[in-house]
Amino acid sequence: MGELLTMEKGRSPFSPGQPVSPDMFVGRHPQIARMLRSFSQIALGKQENLFVTGEYGIGKSSLISYVRQVGEREKNVIGFHVFLGGVSTLETLVQQVVSRIIQHSQGKGVWDCLKDLLGRYVEQVELFKVKLNLSRLKKDAPSLAHDFLPFLRRLWEKLGKHFDGMALFLDDLNGITRTPEFAAFIKSLVDEIATSGEELPLLLALSGVPERRMEILANQPSVARIFDIIEVNPLENDEVSDFFVKAYASVNMSVEKDALQHLVFYSGGLPKLMHELGDAVYWINTDDIVQRKDVVPGIITAADIVGRKYFEPIREALHSVDYHSILKKLGSSETGLEISFKKADLAKGLSETEQKKLANFLNRMKKLHALFPGESRGEWVFPNRLVRLYLLLESSKENRS
Ligand SMILES: Nc1ncnc2c1ncn2[C@@H]1O[C@H](COP(=O)(O)OP(=O)(O)OP(=O)(O)O)[C@@H](O)[C@H]1O
Ligand SMILES: [Mg+2]
Repeated sequence: MGELLTMEKGRSPFSPGQPVSPDMFVGRHPQIARMLRSFSQIALGKQENLFVTGEYGIGKSSLISYVRQVGEREKNVIGFHVFLGGVSTLETLVQQVVSRIIQHSQGKGVWDCLKDLLGRYVEQVELFKVKLNLSRLKKDAPSLAHDFLPFLRRLWEKLGKHFDGMALFLDDLNGITRTPEFAAFIKSLVDEIATSGEELPLLLALSGVPERRMEILANQPSVARIFDIIEVNPLENDEVSDFFVKAYASVNMSVEKDALQHLVFYSGGLPKLMHELGDAVYWINTDDIVQRKDVVPGIITAADIVGRKYFEPIREALHSVDYHSILKKLGSSETGLEISFKKADLAKGLSETEQKKLANFLNRMKKLHALFPGESRGEWVFPNRLVRLYLLLESSKENRS
């Protein structure tokens, strides 16, 4: 039955958990312009370095993916978008980079020119699939990591026949940023290109949450001067609104004004939530108009989905004790979407028993790293927007009426 419904409804335009497709991409105009400027600069022979940063789920990978595609189309540059989520050593980093280069150059139809250089890592090439010889790549990884710049130069010797520049996006930086080797690797790569006197039209872009950048700086403070920062911020309300209208319109659905206001408010400018909310409402709605009556249960479903996906311990805590009145206040307009609040403001209007519960609530959330005391007395701060908005979604259950 579920399958039948899925088939009948067609494809959801939302992609929670994946970088957004270019046709659904909204906003980010200044960041796109700045990144494309670097594409133009490398096409003129310069080497450029960017650090794309912003909190979890804010849209870093989507921005990179979008800019890479636009840059490839408009600036005749080839861009390799490498995901390094599980990578903690330079050896595995270069393996991921080389795999991406092989796969992407195959997709771009320029694999033939790389066969001399990288053919030994490929077992078989089919129309859209490359089978890699991973054991050989693993064996060569230490020397590739050691001689990474010569490798990039050889790569450019080949690719330069087809393109005006190349971009390497090292996205989803995680464990590797804690290692001193990574910071030294990046620094020496950039410094060697600069001092060699031999141009390399390379855009090197790293991406991760701000903590990852701080980890690199802790190992190598001078990395700070290397990278221009591209900050990815929450989307503006009108951009979020455009997104929902565009997404639903793509499947021939319209959105009523008050439904749209609700969707925008509970997304809080966070793209990850836009998709979770939009998707939940998409599956609840039964006709071609999204109305408030579809959005209200959609928000509750989304709260459950987000809670289970990202915040199971917090979800359990919220559900195990009766925190209704506290959640209700957290979702009220007084505390709004702020990333911090004053305990006293939250306590206003609560009964004595509820105030005790509030103290218990704050303690539990602190233990679960969902809240921590701020700098000023009585101030409490959420660790990031996603947690804040998750609690707002939960609060919607209390403010349903
Ligand atoms: N500009 C945008 N327009 C529409 N949807 C977007 C946009 N940016 C991101 N999204 C969507 O938001 C969600 C999170 O985006 P993305 O994965 O790019 O974020 P991220 O910052 O890379 O996250 P993480 O920190 O988890 O790596 C995805 O579902 C993506 O499709
Ligand atoms: Mg990402």
